[in-house]
Amino acid sequence: MLNIALPKGRLGNKVYKLFESIGYGCPEILEDSRKLIFENRENGVKYFLVKPSDVAIYVEYGAADIGVVGKDVIIEQDPAVYELLDLGFGKCRVAVAAKKDFRDDTDRPLRVATKFVNIARSYYTSKNREIEIIKLSGSIELAPILGLSDVIVDIVETGRTLVENDLAVFEDIVPVSARLIANRSSSKFKAEEINRIAEKIGSVIKND
Ligand code: PRP
Repeated sequence: MLNIALPKGRLGNKVYKLFESIGYGCPEILEDSRKLIFENRENGVKYFLVKPSDVAIYVEYGAADIGVVGKDVIIEQDPAVYELLDLGFGKCRVAVAAKKDFRDDTDRPLRVATKFVNIARSYYTSKNREIEIIKLSGSIELAPILGLSDVIVDIVETGRTLVENDLAVFEDIVPVSARLIANRSSSKFKAEEINRIAEKIGSVIKND
């Protein structure tokens, strides 16, 4: 059995369809249910539906052999896993955004709301800018609107959330896309299977 951690939510369906297209289907997964584990004994796969920011943890600890996760999560968490492939979708970027009229007052620390604490810290360290982090878990865009922070460091995909909340991007930090990752010891003990999957996925995305 190969255990695969799939990110729930906007990436999830696309990732599952990719695995299905290379012969690792498990149609029950598409049914409307609250189940979190799906198994197809015929082709030897078991899928776990995992919160996107937890995928790398399941893979690092070996609960899943492989998984798909955004590069943002990999940079933020720096998990001890192998990054096998850039899947070329789930494209977005981590950026600094703020109210359109924001002007940085360098006389005081910049208040930064984010769930990407490490990315934000290392970005502002590299710019030599003192900051105060306000850690949030979602709806980060609210922070500058409510005066909780000066800026946010967050994912921008289409830019719609920013536009609809009167915010704007001030700086891009890093581009992001979905990555196939593997547990380090599974990469040895299930090498054949994992390599086969990575190769098949590699050829499917090349032909896209
Ligand atoms: C992410 C991100 C932005 C939004 C950006 O949130 O935090 O809010 O997507 O997408 P857009 O540029 O296409 O509008 P997500 O939906 O993952 O939820 P979250 O608020 O829990 O972070």
